[in-house]
Order: sequence, then structure tokens, then C-alpha cells
Amino acid sequence: MISELIETLSAQRDLNDAQLKALLETDRMDEALFFNADQKRREIYGTDVYIRGLIEFTNYCQNNCYYCGIRRDNAKAARYRLSKKEILDCCAEGYALGFRTFVLQGGEDPYFTDARVCEIVSEIRSCYPNCAITLSIGEKSRESYQAFFDAGANRYLLRHETANEQHYRKLHPGSMSLQNRKRCLYDLKDIGYQVGSGFMVGSPYQTTENLIEDLRFLQELQPAMIEIGPYITHTETPFAAFASGSLALTLRLIAVLRLMFPYALIPATTALGTIHPQGRELGLKAGANVVMPNLSPVRVRKLYDLYDNKICTGEESAQCRGCLESRVRSAGYKIVTSIGNPAEEKESC
Ligand code: 5AD
Ligand code: FES
Repeated sequence: MISELIETLSAQRDLNDAQLKALLETDRMDEALFFNADQKRREIYGTDVYIRGLIEFTNYCQNNCYYCGIRRDNAKAARYRLSKKEILDCCAEGYALGFRTFVLQGGEDPYFTDARVCEIVSEIRSCYPNCAITLSIGEKSRESYQAFFDAGANRYLLRHETANEQHYRKLHPGSMSLQNRKRCLYDLKDIGYQVGSGFMVGSPYQTTENLIEDLRFLQELQPAMIEIGPYITHTETPFAAFASGSLALTLRLIAVLRLMFPYALIPATTALGTIHPQGRELGLKAGANVVMPNLSPVRVRKLYDLYDNKICTGEESAQCRGCLESRVRSAGYKIVTSIGNPAEEKESC
């Protein structure tokens, strides 16, 4: 019985593989699943929603992931980089709007050497000592991660994308490896970063078994943040012919994640808002507790083109902030001005 599985998952934070498969492959009990996940999030986080200000500072990328619109071989992508001043201006605007976390995200761009990244991070750190600085700039050496940390970065987002070797091979060229991806995540944790990881839902060739492997990997890694969103087709990639992932399965996975990882930070992602007009609101109701509005200058928004029809590409930062405020409120939650660390589990005796 699916309802028993939901109760067991809520109480024990785990199910065996066969049970997870049964739960992920049916939509029969979605309402009950979302209800339990929402209860769990309210127990731990109340109705608080944390915001992260996303600054997409370069769309140059040396990688060639088959799913991604800013992959190296997409000659149609118009490339840009923000200057240090532009990045700092985004932070200033974000701070005034109530953001206490800045996420610097970019492709793997060799122009941004360790020295350049460290210079930017330490300047943000000295201007905003009470804020979190998150980097999301891909796979680097342990030494680079340590240098960024020493400069003042304290969080890092790096989705593992898929925890299955064969599936990883189908999504990425031979120059990349799941082994190195995992090495990066463990190095980051070991250095002391709050780590975020995650995967796309409905990526080409993905099976339910792959998703279960993703959940098992996350159990092993125990990241502070778990970020998932639907895969969305981009016409200028080798995967142009593959359909996008579904809203229903993404929401079901958000709820399962909330029940398996009650204390995790789980964003309702821009991709979720792209496949459905109320995607982010539905994500919050299914257990998500973070939103990540865009702080990038409007002139570059459309160019950070990971997938087709990405939302929030025409709005100023303040508009996005206001829009999300009312979306979050309409879903029954409230945005808080907070650094938004994960809640800590109290020791039980
Ligand atoms: N659809 C959805 N998400 C994508 N990403 C990259 N390309 C796509 C796409 N086509 C995600 C990846 C990456 C994050 C920055 O964006 O998971 O880690
Ligand atoms: Fe960006 Fe609504 S959140 S326009």
C-alpha cells in the first residue's frame, strides 16, 4: 500500500529500493505525500522561506555537457562576463533588497583564474561580513577550493547530475567523470563548505533506478542543500530531440527528499517555474523551503541560457524579489531576511 509507504518514510526517513520505486512510479497518493512533506518542513522550518540571490557572472564554459545550452560547442550562445564592479553592484542591490546570501554561478570559465575568483570573493566578504557567499563554478582542484574558502566563500553548489556511472557517460563527454565530480563534493565538505548537490529530473536516459541511486548517494554525502529541477530541452544541444522532465515527478521527488532529509535546504528552482507557471509555488507546497531569484543585470539575463524559455529574464532584481514575495505568500509561506543556514537536528537521548 502506497499510503503505508508514505507513513513509513515519514517516520523512518528511509525505504528500501523496491518501496522507493513503487512510490516514485505512482501518482495515486501525491496529495498525501505532499501533505506529509509539508508538515515535516513546518515542524522544522515553520513557514520560513530563505532567499538566495543568484548572480550569473559568466556564461563561458569549457565543458560540453550534452544537456546544457551554454556548452562549449554551442556557437550560437552569445558569451559574456561580468566585471568585478558589476558583480559588486549586484551584491549591493541584493543586500538592499534583503538578500543575505549571494550565489556566484558561472560556466567553467578559464578567464576566472583562482586569483580572480579570490579577489572577487574577498572583496564581497569585506563588504558583507554577515552574508554567506556561495560559489557555483564547477569542478576544481582541492587547492582551488581551499583558496576560495580562505578568501571567504563558505558555501558551494555542485550538482552531481546523476550518481550512476553509465548514465553519467550518456550525459557528459568522455573528458568528464562521475568519480571526479564526487571527489570535488567530498573535498568541498572536508574543507568545511556547506555543500549543495542535486540532479535533473527526467534527464535523457534516466530510469527510476538511477533516481534511487541519486537518493542513496545523497544519503552518503549528506549535503546541506539538495537542488533538483526538471531537465528542460535546449534546441542547440545534442539532446534537442528529448522531451523535458515532468512537473509531477519533480514535485514527488521534492516531497520524498523532504521526508528523507528533513533538515535539508531544498530550493524550488527556476527550472520548476519554467515548466509550469506555478511550479515554484507547488514546489514549496511539496516541501521546498528556498527560492533563488536572479540578481544578474537584465542585459545578460537572456544569455545565461541553460535551457529553452527560462523565466525571469526580463525583470529587474527588485521586480523578481517582489514577484517572489507574493508567490511565496500565496503558497502560504513567508520570505525571511536571513543568512538561511540549515536547521540543526537536536540530539535525542
Ligand atoms: N535543463 C535543466 N537544468 C539544466 N542544467 C543545465 N542544463 C539544463 C537543462 N537543459 C542544470 C544542471 C546544472 C545547473 C547549473 O543547471 O543541473 O548543474
Ligand atoms: Fe522573477 Fe517572478 S520571480 S519575475
